[in-house]
Amino acid sequence: MDRLKDKVAIITGAGSGIGRAAARLMSAQGARVLVADHDSAAAEETARTVVETGGEALPWAVDVMDDTSVGDMVEAAVREFGRLDVLCNHVGGTNPRKDLDLLRLDMDEFGRAVDLNVRSTLTGSRYAVPHMIRTGGGSIINTASVAGLVGDVLQISYGAVKAAVVNITKSVAVQYGPQGIRCNAVAPGTIMTPALRDNLPAEVIEALKGYNSLPCLGAPEDIGHTMVFLASDESRYLTGQLLVVDGGMTSQSPAVPGRRAMLPPE
Ligand SMILES: NC(=O)c1ccc[n+]([C@@H]2O[C@H](COP(=O)([O-])OP(=O)(O)OC[C@H]3O[C@@H](n4cnc5c(N)ncnc54)[C@H](O)[C@@H]3O)[C@@H](O)[C@H]2O)c1
Repeated sequence: MDRLKDKVAIITGAGSGIGRAAARLMSAQGARVLVADHDSAAAEETARTVVETGGEALPWAVDVMDDTSVGDMVEAAVREFGRLDVLCNHVGGTNPRKDLDLLRLDMDEFGRAVDLNVRSTLTGSRYAVPHMIRTGGGSIINTASVAGLVGDVLQISYGAVKAAVVNITKSVAVQYGPQGIRCNAVAPGTIMTPALRDNLPAEVIEALKGYNSLPCLGAPEDIGHTMVFLASDESRYLTGQLLVVDGGMTSQSPAVPGRRAMLPPE
């Protein structure tokens, strides 16, 4: 119940999905949470459920693509809660209708992808680090993706920007480790957020399960629990790392489904 006692956390994209789950789980462990999202009604809803269950949370409207707005977000957390221990740079993604293969990629979408995923991660960290240095350290948690680890036929921008997030994670860990700041990334596999569940046909969801070693898809809480661990002092010797939380999707050979069929009968 008190793994994050006395800690203050900012989570961007906390109005929905993984970010919302992380906000609830961190507050359940005693953190005070700035619930940041550009959908202010969604941020308010997350904060309301945290407060209803006895936690402490403040909704905050932010556009992570706007540097000034990100700076205001960090200042608000420090002003309202007195310090900053944890920053989750969670917002990200691309528009799958415009983020296609190399020749059909919309280059404006590529620029937007860099701002939403990469620039936002840099900016959030740039504003947070001085506050963390002042209090002797902190934990920055960046959301990457398994898409940043492998090639794909579509979403060439998404893979590229998530790979960049991993490298930024390592550089921030190296540059501010001496001041007690840890920086790690989480790479989710397929996570059943409400958005995904509402947009994918049941048969596609079933097929996605076949890519994992485990017989299921992830829930937002699976990533949220990982973030709680990275935010807590339990991970105090862990920095510059990427934790892949994907049900085994990227650790198994792509030939596994076919080879399963070749197994001799028991
Ligand atoms: N769900 C998955 O399967 C999965 C897999 C790998 C990686 N991820 C990563 O997880 C992160 C979010 O995923 P999710 O599944 O929780 O998504 P989600 O769509 O449920 O939530 C995203 C939240 O971000 C907010 N947001 C969007 N643009 C914003 C902006 N400019 N400023 C502030 N807030 C903004 C939205 O309002 C929304 O509340 C992304 O970085 C995504 O790449 C998700």
